[in-house]
Amino acid sequence: MLACHRTELLGTAWVLLAGLLVPLQQAAEILEPLKSKVAAVGSSVLLPGLGNITQVYSMQWEYLNGTTSRTVLQYYRGSHSPAIHAPYTGRAVFHASNGSLLLEGVQESDSGIYKATVNMGDRESLKILLEVLKPVSPPQLRSSALMAQATGEVLCEVAEGRVDTITWKKDGQLLPPDRGFLLSSNRSVLYLRLAKKSDCGSYSCNASNGISWEETSLNVTVAGLSPPLQDVLRITVVAVVFAAVSAWGLIIPVCQSEKLRIRGELWRWLSAYTCWLVCIASVLAGAAGGLWMREEGASIAIILPEIALTYIMVVTFLVSTTVTFQPTNLTQLKSKAAQRTMGYAAPGGVVVVVLTSSFLIKNIHRRHEEGCTDFMDVTILTVSTAAVSALPLLAIFLCYHTTQGWLKERDTRWADMERSYEMSQRSSKDALSTH
Ligand SMILES: *[C@@H]1O[C@H](CO)[C@@H](O)[C@H](O)[C@H]1NC(C)=O
Ligand SMILES: *[C@@H]1O[C@H](CO)[C@@H](O)[C@H](O)[C@H]1NC(C)=O
Ligand SMILES: *[C@@H]1O[C@H](CO)[C@@H](O)[C@H](O)[C@H]1NC(C)=O
Ligand SMILES: *[C@@H]1O[C@H](CO)[C@@H](O)[C@H](O)[C@H]1NC(C)=O
Ligand SMILES: *[C@@H]1O[C@H](CO)[C@@H](O)[C@H](O)[C@H]1NC(C)=O
Ligand SMILES: *[C@@H]1O[C@H](CO)[C@@H](O)[C@H](O)[C@H]1NC(C)=O
Repeated sequence: MLACHRTELLGTAWVLLAGLLVPLQQAAEILEPLKSKVAAVGSSVLLPGLGNITQVYSMQWEYLNGTTSRTVLQYYRGSHSPAIHAPYTGRAVFHASNGSLLLEGVQESDSGIYKATVNMGDRESLKILLEVLKPVSPPQLRSSALMAQATGEVLCEVAEGRVDTITWKKDGQLLPPDRGFLLSSNRSVLYLRLAKKSDCGSYSCNASNGISWEETSLNVTVAGLSPPLQDVLRITVVAVVFAAVSAWGLIIPVCQSEKLRIRGELWRWLSAYTCWLVCIASVLAGAAGGLWMREEGASIAIILPEIALTYIMVVTFLVSTTVTFQPTNLTQLKSKAAQRTMGYAAPGGVVVVVLTSSFLIKNIHRRHEEGCTDFMDVTILTVSTAAVSALPLLAIFLCYHTTQGWLKERDTRWADMERSYEMSQRSSKDALSTH
């Protein structure tokens, strides 16, 4: 009892002494390097004490945050167990042999400075900065729609856990740290200025903090063709197919022998359909050229074909409406020049459409080469357009062949039929003799 009383007195004396020593002690503490520890949420952390404390009278652990402090535990030599204060009861274990403190199941709120002091204000003290961190969650990698020659970005975002560093890799090679920009504590962005083929590849983002790291990869592709240029390609392909099908409509009658040449109403339908196709093809090629100019700027190489296409558009439109709706009007066209214009409009149109389209496709392909995506698959578009546009042609030729067969069977009627065909044909033949 007396011993206890004496130790208490001694303690008071120490406190008084400590009061005197405070300025000195603070000066010492500032110079003291702060040890630090990092721990994951829920783990146990051992805060090392000051070593062998079998000779010391008392020891205390404090938690400091800001300006306030809070006692974690107090230990007096001789007492069996230390006094552990709330909120540490049940999760703090004190090792009396070496003065270390084991904190179990730490939470982020336990982050702060822990100070160990022996003999109450004795200059022998120790401070440990404890950081309790959540492990980082796997980063989310996103890229904007990357277009050749345009600026794009790859964004790395970490939803959970404090992030200390974010590093970038491309195809397994570490990128220089100045390539990535930290937008906020948990977001980093990689800018790709004037994106090009060499920017394609696998990008990895490694987010880490003191206790964990996570890495995510993303395959990045740079598209050579913007959506408007893809539209230009689609329209051009349809125009070329229409031109090719109408070319068949123009060539086949020429290849037939004079005697068996397609005549009469069927010939009129064939001419009308072919002319319509050329007209539509030139409208489409003109539209594609216009779209291209809007995207890539005007150039003489595209303006000239545009003018030619406009001319062909008008002529083929007039011819096809006339052939379709007023075939008799054709006979009234007496001028040789007008007849020639009409005769050359369709074949000329096919040539101009094909030339313009080749120019566009060549340039579109060049733009595509600046990216690394697959070339747009236009097979289905080509095949379906060809099938649909060739169907009326097939119908006309099928019709022609069945009538031919029917005619051969009835040789005797040939003359009559010939005469009647001649009559119906006379109306249009003169005007469109070049077909
Ligand atoms: C202190 O002692 C405990 C058990 O006696 C031991 O687990 C721990 O590692 C020791 N700490 C230091 C810093 O030596
Ligand atoms: C602590 O020190 C005392 C004497 O100073 C010694 O007897 C004891 O063995 C030491 N304990 C350890 C664990 O070193
Ligand atoms: C210090 O801890 C107390 C609770 O112990 C808390 O309310 C306060 O916000 C903390 N202050 C700082 C600056 O962390
Ligand atoms: C991290 O990013 C998410 C969005 O993904 C945001 O909700 C969160 O607040 C951010 N956390 C920090 C610490 O900035
Ligand atoms: C991610 O970063 C951490 C910390 O910088 C590093 O330890 C780890 O090895 C990196 N991971 C990969 C896959 O490079
Ligand atoms: C990226 O592409 C490569 C092949 O080019 C493939 O092996 C890999 O799985 C892809 N990675 C991702 C994240 O899609």
